[in-house]
Order: sequence, then structure tokens, then C-alpha cells
Amino acid sequence: MPSVRFFSGETVPLEMHKVRVVQKLTLPDIDTRLAAITAAGNNTFLLQNRDVFMDMLTDSGVNAMSDRQVAAMMVADDSYAGSATYTRLETRLREIFGMDWILPAHQGRACENILAQVLVTPGSIVPMNYHFTTTKAHIVLNGGRVEEIIHARGLEVTSDEPFKGDMDVAALERLVAEHGAERIAFVRVEAGTNLIGGQPVSLANLREVRAVCDRHGLTLVYDASLMADNLYFLKTREAACRDLSIREITRQIADLCDVIYFSARKLGCARGGAICVRDEALYNRMRGLVPLYEGFLTYGGMSVREIEALTVGLDETMDEDMISQGPQFIAYMVGELDRRGIPVITPAGGLGCHIDVMRFLDHVPQAQYSAGALASALYIASGVRGMERGTLSEQRAPDGTEPLANMELVRLAMPRRVFTLSQVKYAIDRIDWLWQNRRLVGGLTFVEEPEILRFFYGRLAPVSDWQQRLVAQFRADFGDSL
Ligand code: F0G
Repeated sequence: MPSVRFFSGETVPLEMHKVRVVQKLTLPDIDTRLAAITAAGNNTFLLQNRDVFMDMLTDSGVNAMSDRQVAAMMVADDSYAGSATYTRLETRLREIFGMDWILPAHQGRACENILAQVLVTPGSIVPMNYHFTTTKAHIVLNGGRVEEIIHARGLEVTSDEPFKGDMDVAALERLVAEHGAERIAFVRVEAGTNLIGGQPVSLANLREVRAVCDRHGLTLVYDASLMADNLYFLKTREAACRDLSIREITRQIADLCDVIYFSARKLGCARGGAICVRDEALYNRMRGLVPLYEGFLTYGGMSVREIEALTVGLDETMDEDMISQGPQFIAYMVGELDRRGIPVITPAGGLGCHIDVMRFLDHVPQAQYSAGALASALYIASGVRGMERGTLSEQRAPDGTEPLANMELVRLAMPRRVFTLSQVKYAIDRIDWLWQNRRLVGGLTFVEEPEILRFFYGRLAPVSDWQQRLVAQFRADFGDSL
């Protein structure tokens, strides 16, 4: 890990790469931003990217590729069956994870579809540290249910607990005792738990989970989509990993698991996905579904160019410099916001910076979608696009009542190696301005509410003229600055 001390004493995340291809950005003025978010129904998913200055919606499929990845794309072997490109990916995955059996898929949720169809039966249970939306949907679709057994410390918004993603192992034992091992479809551990702020899982915890699985004959499935960040935290936060290389840590994780799957839109800075399986019999049960849903076994719905980029990207993920960039930028952003008294999830995790909206907008009721309102206000104030993670992302109950989310968050994802530090400083500055003017921000109400996945397509309107007042204050403070 590069340890470069600045003479000034300042802590600066120093990039260990240089930029060789760039994409021009535009920052529309605040009136255009207000018009754009209004046209998007105050839903950041519906913004056009041309109106966005910093796209912090997600880190999925938008990470920067290296020169080696782009070069590899040019030598892809385009064939339906038996592509040499696919053999290179298979070889790399076997080498990194030490599992013999590999299935390709077009993205992470496609892996989840295959796993759930084969392993989940009606009435079965899948214990996990925390759910991810698509994972849970596939389990439920196949008649199973999810039991979240995150350690109690994981849901504390502010904390200095280094591994908030750890599973409560005693709760896992209790589940087995209560329902019997035969009801457990599999145990799932998600690296870098997405929905609770990109928080890592310790190697020690994974080892304990493995021991429970061994005692009861359970299959352990590891979602490695956010493993790159998790590896960085193992290296920097877990004493037992300090003297191990990233490759060695990865192998120690893999050796504890029966199945590893991932979204290559995150892991490996490409697009696609794969399932790695230790047991040939289990592989054979899943194999038939790949041609049915994904494509032939030697591409699985991925373009061969993406497969080449992924093969190189996985190798580069074993480099400490590469995996430290994201978490270090996030730590910088979280640290700077925290220092200004702005409520954020701590400690800093992977994936992005998460604003705690219950405290940021404590005057806006959850039923008026406070996190959605803050995401809209932040876009107006800055052109930065974040993602609502709160009540708006929940489903309305059949009786029309609104289940309020446990947390109201605005997630500001940090795509890997995409932004410069001055851009991150700009985002911090505008969030700070919004914090100082938070009383101006009001709630939202639905004008169009789709029955399913309403957060993707729903349209909302402000409950008052608060957005006009926010724009007027911006003009008063910033003049004609963008
Ligand atoms: N598992 C985790 C932990 C994820 O974060 C995601 C996707 C998936 C599985 C599904 O993978 O998108 O390739 O089908 N997370 C994205 C996000 C959507 O924005 O956080 P996918």
C-alpha cells in the first residue's frame, strides 16, 4: 500500500495511476439543473447523463479500465464455442480462487438466478449477513426466504467497528437449531455489504461461518461483487492479514467457500459475471441453465471483449495500489464531511459515501421521502447524481400503507479510478453548502407511483416551492457561478 506522507501533514489519497483517456463533462447552470430534475420527476434514475456533472449513482459498470484491459479487448477470440478468450478467463479464475468449475453469466443477478433455481426450494431459508435487492428477489421468486443475521454492530450508523459486515454466527446456529439444516438452502456471505454502506466482512468471521457450515453440512456461497474493497479492508484492518499478499488473502477467503459468484460490473472493472464452484456435482446441476438463460458455456452472455477486459481486471485486482484507490477516496470524502459535522455512515466503507438523511433532514418526515428529497436537492445544488436508499426504495404494502425504511440514505458511489480529487472536493463543498441550508429542503410526494420497483421509474413532485427557494439562496451565495 503506498504510504506517502505530505510535508504539510495533510492526508491525501494519492492516485497510483495516470489518466490517458478522458471524457468531457458538462456542468449545467442551476436553472438547467432544476429544469432537468423536474423533467426527471425528482428521480435521479430518470436524469439524462448529459445533464450530470459527477455520476455517483453507482459503481456498477462505470469503473475506469486500465490500458492493459483496453489492449486485451483488441485480441479477443470471437467464437461462439471454444473461444480462447473464455479459456483465458477460466484459467485466471481457477488460479485466483482455486476452484475448478466455472460458469459464465451476463451479470451478477444472472448468477443469482442460476444459484437460486438450483439451490432454493419452496419453504427453504437462506441466512445471510445482509441482503442485496436482486439476490433477495431471486430467492423469493423460487419460494425461499431470506434471514438477515448481520451482527448487531452492523446497523449502527456511526461506529468505529472495522467489520460491520460480519455475520452473527450465534444467530446462524440458532437458525439451524430452530429449522433444521435441511431447510437451509445455503448460507450467503456478501463481501463489502452493499446496502449497509459497503461495510467489510472479516476473514475471522468467515472462518467461523465456515465452521458452522461444516458442523451442519451447509453450502457456503460468497458474493464477491464488492470483494476488491473488502480485500483492501482485510489488508489494512485485520491483523492476521497484514503480512499476507492480496492474492494470499483472496485464496484464504476462497478456501473457506463452496461457491463464489460475482458481478464483473464491479469486481474486475468490466461487465459480466461468473459462478465458481468447488464441487463438480453442483456444477453439473447448474450447467444446463447457462445456455438457457445466458448463452453458450464459453461466453455466458458476455461479449468476448468484455471477457478479455475482465481477465486482466481480475489480475489487476490482486494489486494493492489498484484496490486501494476507491476506499481511500471514499475515506477522504467521509472524513471531510464528518469533520464538518455532516452526518455520514462511519467508518468509511467501500462502494461510496453514504449520507445519513434521518439526521441531515431531521425536519422532513420519512413519509415525504427525505432521502429522495436530499438526492434531488443535491443534484440541484451541484449536478452530482446520487441514489436514494430509503423509504422510496421500499415497496408500498398491499393495504396502501408505507413501510418506513430502517435507514434513509443518499448513496454517493465512487466508481473506481474515475474522479479526480478536485472533483471530490467540489462534491464535498456543495454538500457542505446544502448542510448549511438544509432547512430550505422539503419533502416529495408521488405523482406517478409504479406498483413494482417504484424507485426506478416513479415520478415525484416537491410538497412546496422549496426548490425555487433553494435556487434563490444558491444565486445569493454563489452569484453566477455554476
Ligand atoms: N451483489 C451485489 C453485492 C451487488 O452490489 C450487485 C449489484 C449484485 C449482486 C448484482 O449484480 O448488477 O451485475 O446484476 N449492485 C449494483 C449497485 C446494481 O448499483 O449497487 P449485477
